[in-house]
Amino acid sequence: MTLAAGESAPAPPVEAGMLPRPFEVRARRPELADCVTLEMAALDGGPLGFAPGQFTMLYAHGVGEVAISISGNPAETDTLVQTIRAVGAVSGALCGLTEGQRLGVRGPLGTAWPVERALGKHLMIVAGGLGLAPTRPIIYWALANRERLKGIEIVYGTRSPDQILYPQQLLGWSTTEGLRVGVTVDRAADDWTGRVGVVTDLVPAMLRDPAETVAMVCGPEIMMRFAAQALAAAGVPQDDIHLSLERNMKCGIGWCGHCQLGPHLLCRDGPVFPYPAVRDLMTVWEL
Ligand SMILES: Cc1cc2nc3c(=O)[nH]c(=O)nc-3n(C[C@H](O)[C@H](O)[C@H](O)COP(=O)(O)OP(=O)(O)OC[C@H]3O[C@@H](n4cnc5c(N)ncnc54)[C@H](O)[C@@H]3O)c2cc1C
Ligand code: FES
Repeated sequence: MTLAAGESAPAPPVEAGMLPRPFEVRARRPELADCVTLEMAALDGGPLGFAPGQFTMLYAHGVGEVAISISGNPAETDTLVQTIRAVGAVSGALCGLTEGQRLGVRGPLGTAWPVERALGKHLMIVAGGLGLAPTRPIIYWALANRERLKGIEIVYGTRSPDQILYPQQLLGWSTTEGLRVGVTVDRAADDWTGRVGVVTDLVPAMLRDPAETVAMVCGPEIMMRFAAQALAAAGVPQDDIHLSLERNMKCGIGWCGHCQLGPHLLCRDGPVFPYPAVRDLMTVWEL
């Protein structure tokens, strides 16, 4: 599926949009102490196309439904790949699913990262913590389109070395031609030989040509706020900075109002927004 910048997937009729499709877990991979990746296949045989940045509503039978970003390769449409952190009842139940168990899936939903804006330019991904999961589909896309980009920069920060998501992939990307990877942690023990410091400090050092860079940022809201400010201060045009926002979601299709942020419904108008559309809202806490 190809969505233009800021374009949402067409809204399904409420009844159709609320109906989960049956999926089965085909593989379960522990990532961090509280975090797993599930690979799932549709039991109804329907297509699984998605655009980088979109999410699904995952339904754990008898427990409830939560929004989870798609973190797989958009070119591989036979498997749905999602990385989930257990923070409560529903995400905990999803993380506990094992091979062969079933769940419900609605989606893909929401807006896409406007990856095509980066053609002929540098593409910088700035991710914090679990924010690498929603940006991983961009990296797959960028690798497939490497010759059409001036360069790909991945800037990743997390709390401590044991919290680094997809460490083997990060290592592989760091030795891939055309990709530059910078990893930093907030704090580390003596055996860590990498960088220590917040991810925003690494942003200016990783930028090659700010005016010709399109940036995609995902992570905790405070990290995104400072990362967007650092990118803009370094000369990245504000229209070329994109962020993925999170709010508690119920319907996921612009119906219930749970995910409202100012004038936006995050499930329908987001989760991916150009920085100028949310810049002022992000400075208002608890909005
Ligand atoms: C568009 C979108 C994409 C997301 N992608 C992912 C993903 O790829 N992987 C992943 O693990 N999680 C993702 N989340 C967050 C996930 O939806 C929440 O962690 C989940 O709803 C928690 O539900 P629960 O019932 O397990 O926990 P609850 O019992 O509802 O909550 C447990 C704790 O988490 C907090 N919480 C609940 N929902 C959110 C939220 N949306 N954002 C921040 N804190 C929240 C609560 O305040 C509480 O402190 C995404 C959310 C959105 C809106
Ligand atoms: S979750 Fe219902 S309107 Fe967004």
